[in-house]
Amino acid sequence: MVSVNNPYGCNEANVISQYRRPLPATNLRFMSTVMFDGRESSPLTGTQQITYVQPPHNLDNLIFDLKHQSVDAMTGHAQGDGSRPTPTEQQQIVNFEMALSTAEIIDNLAGRLEAHGAAGGPVPLTTQPFFVSINSSVHFLLPQFEQPGGLVTPGDGQFTPAIFNPFGAWASLPGSSPRAAVARGQAIFNSKPINIAGVAGINDDASAGGLVSGGISSLTGTCGTCHDTPNVGNHSYATCLASRCARQIPSPVGQRALARRRRTSAKP
Ligand code: HEC
Repeated sequence: MVSVNNPYGCNEANVISQYRRPLPATNLRFMSTVMFDGRESSPLTGTQQITYVQPPHNLDNLIFDLKHQSVDAMTGHAQGDGSRPTPTEQQQIVNFEMALSTAEIIDNLAGRLEAHGAAGGPVPLTTQPFFVSINSSVHFLLPQFEQPGGLVTPGDGQFTPAIFNPFGAWASLPGSSPRAAVARGQAIFNSKPINIAGVAGINDDASAGGLVSGGISSLTGTCGTCHDTPNVGNHSYATCLASRCARQIPSPVGQRALARRRRTSAKP
C-alpha cells in the first residue's frame, strides 16, 4: 500500500471496496485512449498510442487498439481460448462500436435537448468535427506537447475555452426557465476561471509525471483546460491530467498501474 485517499469517509474495517467508473462504449471516435487508464493504447500492452495521423489513416491507431481490446475481452472476461474473435469478427465488432453515438436526449425540466434552437442529443455528435489534439489546451501553452493542436484545422494554433455551444440559443430565455439554467451551466463550463494547483500531470515536476521540469505551481484555467474537445469534453490527446494512467512515455505510476492490471488479469 503506497498511499490511502478516503474522500468519502468510508470507515468499514472488514471489506475492501474498490471504485471504478464504467465508461460508455459509445462515441468512440472521440477517444484519445482506450480503457479508463489508457492501457489499451500503450506499447506496454502491445497496443498503440493514439496520436494525430493525417486522414484517411487518422482512425487506424484507434481501430487497431479497439480490435486488440475485443480480443482481450474475449480471452479475459469470456474465457476464450484466443482463437476468436477472428480478424473478420474483430473488424465487425469495431465497426459496430464505432457507429454508436449516445447523448442525453431529454431533461425532466428542460425537455427535449434539441428543441428551441438547441443542439443537444446524439445526432449532432455524428457530425461533430474531431481530430486527435483538436483544441489542445496544453499545445496552446506548451507547443512541444500534444501536436499538432489547432481548433479548425490541425496546427492552426488556436484554442478556445468555449468548449460547449449546443445550448447558446437558450441563453436569451427568461432567467427562471430551466432551459436558461442549462445555458448558464454551459457558460460556467466555458468561462469560469479555476485555479488549477496540486494536480498530478499538470502541476507536478516532469519527473513525477508533470509537463515541465520544475512543475507549474498554479495555472488559471477553466473546465476546458482539461475537458478540451469541442462539444464532447474529453481531453483530445492522451495526456494524463489529474488521473493516474499509462502515459505515452511510461511513468513509474503508469508502469505500476499496468503491472497491477497484469497481475489482476492473470488471476483465474
Ligand atoms: C484539472 C483538470 C480538470 C478540470 C479543470 C476539470 N476536470 Fe472534470 N474531470 C477531470 C478528470 C481527469 C476526469 C475523469 C475522472 C475519471 O475518469 O475518474 C473528469 C471528469 C469529469 C466529469 C465526468 C465525465 C464522465 O464521462 O463521466 C464531469 C461531468 C466533469 N469532469 C466536469 C467538469 C466541470 C464542470 C469542470 C469545471 C467546473 C471540470 N470538470 C474541470 C479533470 C478536470
